[in-house]
Amino acid sequence: MTPDIRPHEKLDRAVIFLGPPGAGKGTQAKELARKFSAPHLSTGDMLREHVAQGTSLGQRAQPIMGRGELVPDSIVLRMVADRIERPDCSHGFVFDGFPRTVAQAQWLGELLKQHGFKPPLVVHMVIDPALLLRRITGRRTCKVGGEIYNVYERAPKVEGRCDSDGGELEQRPDDREEIVGPRLAAYEKQTAPLAAYYRRLGRLRDIDASKSVDEVGKGILDFVRETR
Ligand code: AP5
Repeated sequence: MTPDIRPHEKLDRAVIFLGPPGAGKGTQAKELARKFSAPHLSTGDMLREHVAQGTSLGQRAQPIMGRGELVPDSIVLRMVADRIERPDCSHGFVFDGFPRTVAQAQWLGELLKQHGFKPPLVVHMVIDPALLLRRITGRRTCKVGGEIYNVYERAPKVEGRCDSDGGELEQRPDDREEIVGPRLAAYEKQTAPLAAYYRRLGRLRDIDASKSVDEVGKGILDFVRETR
């Protein structure tokens, strides 16, 4: 069994989670970040927060996300650059849903260099596409703390309520079955080529995301600890 990390052990670099919608990036990225007390930077969560707060950025992003398309770089890159500047990122962080195109990855590579970070590690979540629809349509997220559940696979103890804080569980608007197709198509066309990009740079590991949450997590932790 993989030992848990030592107290105060730092990540000291960026870890990127790459994989199709519903593969389990958020579930695993949050857990890895928690283990290292590092920030979990989900561009999807950041955008949803803007939408919920009704900011001008959120108003621009909402219809695009609702169609299952990628939000333009003019919105996403500024958001990421601002977030990395914060002091809590100084010992590394975990990206979930970023980068999503080769152009975003190239931009990020430069940004990390400017901030003096080592090259990022990339966790590539590989999964049978047949599993994704059930994972996506079954997902429920806590409105308070963002904990992720699944009504089929990882149900809360009390229906509709978060086990940790009792918060109400909600379904994401883009998790409707008719939006899943466009999201998967956007992934195949714009994001899947990133795997080859990072594989060439020698910093990517394929992780079988169809296994249990604990088994997937163990594979990721082994990778991160071996290659730091
Ligand atoms: P985003 O929020 O990043 O969504 P996504 O990439 O589509 O990924 P998901 O959140 O759907 O899935 P996940 O892999 O995190 O799975 P999860 O852990 O929740 O992006 C949303 C939108 O924002 C995009 O469409 C785009 O418009 C925009 N956007 C975001 N970033 C952008 C960027 N960089 N550039 C441009 N636009 C951007 O798990 C799924 C379910 O499965 C859960 O119910 C979970 O409980 C369950 N589960 C997880 N692991 C397991 C397991 N091992 N076994 C069984 N069940 C499991």
